[in-house]
Amino acid sequence: MARRRLVAGNWKMNGARATLGELSAIALAAQQAGNVDVAIALPATLIAPAGAAAPGLTIGAQDVHAAPSGAHTGCLSVAMIAEAGAQFSIVGHSERRADNHETDAQVKAKAEALRGGGLRAILCVGETLAERDAGQAEAVVAGQLTGSLPAGAAADWLSIAYEPVWAIGTGRTPTVADVASMHAAIRATLRTLIGPEADAMRLLYGGSVTGDNAAELLGAGDVDGALVGGASLSAAKFVPIIEAAV
Ligand code: G3P
Repeated sequence: MARRRLVAGNWKMNGARATLGELSAIALAAQQAGNVDVAIALPATLIAPAGAAAPGLTIGAQDVHAAPSGAHTGCLSVAMIAEAGAQFSIVGHSERRADNHETDAQVKAKAEALRGGGLRAILCVGETLAERDAGQAEAVVAGQLTGSLPAGAAADWLSIAYEPVWAIGTGRTPTVADVASMHAAIRATLRTLIGPEADAMRLLYGGSVTGDNAAELLGAGDVDGALVGGASLSAAKFVPIIEAAV
């Protein structure tokens, strides 16, 4: 099945109003890459100003709370990020699973809240190096996927990002064969969970993607795009990744 590619950036806790100029060049490249979707997940404080800096660019958040409102100091609801201009959010990033002890059940609830509010989601899964070395990578990822896949999971609002924890920000990447086999395993798990809809769902690879390795990684079987951290912070580094996906 032909799936339209998605190249998404994740600025993590980086950026400021002064660096939003990068988004104009990214928006232009996104416009020119007619057959690729481009999106950027920003720190919450930059979502609204980004809308003015780069109209037309798909902007999202990096996390959201599952509850609609209430006593959750420091958190943002789906309606809040939507009002700021977010069209999607990442959920279940390994940095949040590790730093904030987020469970699969919480990740699932966040994704379901996004759907309820009419937003899209990128759901992250990925194993640690110890888990890979122990030969458990596929089992760990299948477990995360099974535990965190939201009700109503469908390709029009949900994508899955495979991000091996040991490849994030390290300059190390799995081999193309390893990426292809993990993505095939994810697709197979999805088929058991949601049937034929699994074949329409986009599976992104994330972890040290650069302009130099993007074409190779995007060429791996069942890879429908990329989730990019460090290299999404500057247009000079991110645009070549978009171009590799065209
Ligand atoms: O969400 C993107 C990410 O975790 C990958 O980060 O810096 O290795 O591209 P990076």
